[in-house]
Amino acid sequence: MPILKTTDSERLQEVLDDIADRIAGMSERGKVAQYIPELATVDLNQFGIAIAPIDGPLISAGDAGTLFSIQSISKVFSLTLALQQVGASLWQRVGREPSGDPFNSIVQLEHERGIPRNPFINPGAIIVADVLLEDRSSDEAVNDLLALCRELSDDNSIEVDASVAESEMRTGSRNRALAHFMQAEGNLNAPVEDVLSLYFRQCSIAMSCEQLALAGRFLAAAGQNPATGATVLSAQRARRVTALMMMCGSYDASGEFAFRVGLPAKSGVGGGILCIVPGIASVVAWSPGLDQKGNSHLASIAFQELVRATGWSIFGPST
Ligand code: DON
Repeated sequence: MPILKTTDSERLQEVLDDIADRIAGMSERGKVAQYIPELATVDLNQFGIAIAPIDGPLISAGDAGTLFSIQSISKVFSLTLALQQVGASLWQRVGREPSGDPFNSIVQLEHERGIPRNPFINPGAIIVADVLLEDRSSDEAVNDLLALCRELSDDNSIEVDASVAESEMRTGSRNRALAHFMQAEGNLNAPVEDVLSLYFRQCSIAMSCEQLALAGRFLAAAGQNPATGATVLSAQRARRVTALMMMCGSYDASGEFAFRVGLPAKSGVGGGILCIVPGIASVVAWSPGLDQKGNSHLASIAFQELVRATGWSIFGPST
């Protein structure tokens, strides 16, 4: 099967419409995240998908313009800012190995003396947030993250959803436990509540599939924002962020996602999944119902269908 080119936008539109139609008819839709009360109220019957090619206009279907909580997908952008700020020294405080454990697990952290396995599990992202606070307040760091997302998606309307942030702040005991443990081990410098104020707000940024696909596009384009030519990360660092997405972006289901889809991905409990097709496009699918590992059930299916139709898996086409 030939690999579908992004210049064939008519065929790509057909592929997306077909995926959206089939997903609309599926009755098994997963379950919305229950542990963040504000996310538990989101309507399950939504699905959107958007492709942002590195060399062409957006293509989308379904509810691709609807805002949702980006949750852990924000960890890609906080990691990007931290790498811009402190470069490779970040890796003294957080590892680069898949965890094989749930995203909020405490067990491994004790064995490994407060050094989280990777920046995409919760403790790893909390360390990244602490790094961002080295030279600014949590309000400034939230603004810097919003500025990065706005610049990349060319949309100044992107904001934190305050009610989701408040909901996380109220119910975030497990993240507090992770942060306090890392502080006890000497790997967290700023006051725990300052770090969590940044972490909860970054998770509560609301974006649509279309905005998020544009925001991830620099990772498909060797670290450059294709819209402006600006370097967001060096090509080497962009490749490394993408490698981490492949190995760790879907938590303890990262192996399964690589097996079924074969694209670097970052998921969030808001039901979004950002996938990078290196050299081709950034793609976001969203549906709020999650599987048991906390990844969107229908967005995962959408990506399986997308790679089957386009041949975009980095491991080669299906037939
Ligand atoms: O800290 C949390 O648990 C959430 N704000 C983010 C978790 C998340 O998105 C993990 N994703 N699958």
